Amino acid sequence: MKGVLLAGGTGSRLYPITHTGPKQLVPIANKPVLDYAIEDFIDAGITDIGVILGNKGREAIQQHLGDGSDYGVDITYIIQGDPLGLAHAVGCAKEFVGDESFVVYLGDDLMREGIEEMVADFDPEEYAAGIGLQEVDEPSRYGVVGRNDDDDIVELAEKPDDPPSNLALIGIYVFTPEIFDQIEALEPSWRGELEITDAIQGLLDDDRRVQSHVVHGWWKDTGKPSDVLHANRLVLDAIDRNLAGTVENKESVIGRVELHEGAVIENGAVVRGPVSIGADTRIGSGSYIGPYTSIGENSEIDNAHIEASVTMGDNEITADRTIVDSLIGRQAAITSSEDKQPTGDRMVIGRNSTLEL
Ligand code: TTP
Repeated sequence: MKGVLLAGGTGSRLYPITHTGPKQLVPIANKPVLDYAIEDFIDAGITDIGVILGNKGREAIQQHLGDGSDYGVDITYIIQGDPLGLAHAVGCAKEFVGDESFVVYLGDDLMREGIEEMVADFDPEEYAAGIGLQEVDEPSRYGVVGRNDDDDIVELAEKPDDPPSNLALIGIYVFTPEIFDQIEALEPSWRGELEITDAIQGLLDDDRRVQSHVVHGWWKDTGKPSDVLHANRLVLDAIDRNLAGTVENKESVIGRVELHEGAVIENGAVVRGPVSIGADTRIGSGSYIGPYTSIGENSEIDNAHIEASVTMGDNEITADRTIVDSLIGRQAAITSSEDKQPTGDRMVIGRNSTLEL
């Protein structure tokens, strides 16, 4: 089986972070989201991976993944260009896929359980497609499915008033190449995109069987800033204490803290896990890094209290302030202006930034 990783899209819900880079490279516990998907592919025995690229962040993704050899996989890049919808993105992989079955993984998704079971369960002799699902509390907010007594999917509904079940689509699919005929017959939806759900509906209309696969471990898409922080919490919940960097005073580094190589926690700084600190970052003596925080690589932190936040790397954060529930983009600086007149908060804030003061 092959893998198709969707790494195009606009990422507009993650502005301003995605003004300067693709959302698939946003670090979760100091690892780009995309890397979790590649690891899931590998665990499922899939090493032939097509990566769909949009216009945004195309070079950055190629630079990051290279030819895949660092991961032990073989990567083929497929250019989608404008984000014309998930079905359009999948359609771009037709030549790459050939006549094999393949898994489609949304590049901004994280799944605790991975995809091993779903891949192993899928039998292309019986099914034209398989869909990853999860039970949700408010099904009318999601794309949901209806199933028959064999648990096959018989109905798809987008944000329905009267949901046929509480099983929502989570963005992981297995397809046979039959899906390409359906995609070619699609018309754009009301939002101007080729919808993958319409392509699957086409399979159902042609009386093809579609398998359901219910995922029980957590699943998270990282489309919005709050989702990134939530995904970060979920991943940090499972890390181990691992201090590869330098700790000047071990007593003030409490619990499960992952300190990457070249990073330093100075005497006087307090770090309370779960926390991940990236390579070559200095946590200065006046700092407090609280639970569920990931500090990116190559940064200087001093005086600040940071909690339940993600800083993406190359940051200078030296203001004597408490920063919570925040997502701080690469190269952003938060410094002190204390001795300057007139007093007040000085800012250079880019388009789509959010400050809650
Ligand atoms: P979405 O999050 O649905 O779309 P988006 O990336 O455009 O984000 P936003 O709504 O915030 O503007 O996309 C899910 C995944 O699929 C994501 O990894 C991007 C990818 N994708 C493509 O590769 N091509 C596409 O045409 C679309 C719409 C998404």
